[in-house]
Amino acid sequence: MNKKSGYVFVWPIGTRIIHWMMALSFTTAFITSFYEDLLHDHVALGFIFLIIIIYRIIWGFVGPRYATFNTFKLSLPELKLYFSEKIQNRWRQIPAGHNPASSWFTIWALGVGTIIVTSGLLLYGIQEAKGFFRFLNSDFSQYMGILDSIHKYAAYLFAFWVFLHITGVMIEQFWHKTGMVLSMINGYKKTQGEDTQVKPYLSFFAYTTIVIAIVTYFFIISSNYNFLTMQKYTNVYYKEVHPVFDKECGDCHSAYPPFLLPKKSWERVLGKLDNHFGEEITEANISRSEQASIKEFLLANSAESSTREVSVKIMESLGDRRPKAITKTPYWREIHKDIPKSAYKDKDIKDKSNCKACHKDFEYGNLDDMNIIYKNK
Ligand code: HEC
Ligand code: HEC
Repeated sequence: MNKKSGYVFVWPIGTRIIHWMMALSFTTAFITSFYEDLLHDHVALGFIFLIIIIYRIIWGFVGPRYATFNTFKLSLPELKLYFSEKIQNRWRQIPAGHNPASSWFTIWALGVGTIIVTSGLLLYGIQEAKGFFRFLNSDFSQYMGILDSIHKYAAYLFAFWVFLHITGVMIEQFWHKTGMVLSMINGYKKTQGEDTQVKPYLSFFAYTTIVIAIVTYFFIISSNYNFLTMQKYTNVYYKEVHPVFDKECGDCHSAYPPFLLPKKSWERVLGKLDNHFGEEITEANISRSEQASIKEFLLANSAESSTREVSVKIMESLGDRRPKAITKTPYWREIHKDIPKSAYKDKDIKDKSNCKACHKDFEYGNLDDMNIIYKNK
């Protein structure tokens, strides 16, 4: 029943759409990962990738001819032979389904892809305190760094793998002239074999997955906080939590949330109020008992006692140092290093310690990436 003579129908439309969705969601998620304030978009794209990965693994067991793992060519001698033929450009008929290289590529990509999405979800929960796993933030905050590395290097590995894959396809296309690029567009390969036929329930499964992936993407994009992206930390109303602190320490600048500095730093700040960054704060301004109450509050809620990303990272970056300012911590400097000095000349910003100018809801202890309102001009 070959519709085109000399060609085999290998990739049904659902498979092709899913292939391109995977390629596109990975690429865009990869690009957005370099921008802190695009984390939300990154996560939405990551969810497409996640759904496609799960689908593809199931498809590998139940799917049609050429798609199932048991049709993959995974013997090493075969792979070696494949490459040696390719390098010598000796014409062999290409297999209708996966060739040895693309068999290995798919298995490997699904493995690394699984690592990427799992570590991504965990990182989102543990580091950002968001998503399904936000409840893990309090107990596993020490794993932020390692999870971040796993997620990042797995993604680099995947990107490198994609590069090899594209190189391979280009070689097929332009050197061996097997028309491989077209096969993922129109579904046909120039070879011999039987056409693939997809049972209706499998088509339904493929189309449902495509719809779910797209709907999930728009669901995340269109609302900041939903059950997939919910954050554990909400705004803290210091005015209610500790009115004295909010009033007295929020008089000249917005009150810096206690979790931004360690205990020793707060002790240093409060120990020298008579020379507070050039200002003189006396007991006439803040009474002795108010100072004691503020100190108690700051020490009880310092960076050491918080599992927020910013607290953990500030503590990690400090080592033994205990500076008096947040802007003196290596973490703060590192994360803001791309902001040009000229930005602080802006009349609405004025100073780097004016966090509120660039972080919406800063006065409520909110440092969510989505609330960054400064855009490099
Ligand atoms: C009289 C005004 C005034 C009051 C009241 C005041 N501060 Fe400050 N604070 C300043 C100034 C000025 C700076 C220097 C940075 C700036 O220009 O905003 C500063 C800076 C800071 C910084 C360092 C910010 C950075 O750069 O990382 C911390 C921490 C801080 N204040 C804590 C407090 C605390 C805690 C209280 C309450 C006990 C308090 N401040 C009350 C004027 C004040
Ligand atoms: C001139 C604008 C500006 C000022 C002022 C500013 N920030 Fe930021 N901040 C940014 C930008 C932009 C980013 C994102 C940086 C990036 O992604 O490269 C950021 C990132 C951060 C992050 C990391 C967020 C995350 O979840 O990864 C923290 C924490 C943070 N800022 C804290 C502060 C604090 C505390 C202050 C005040 C002492 C402050 N910032 C002042 C612009 C500013």
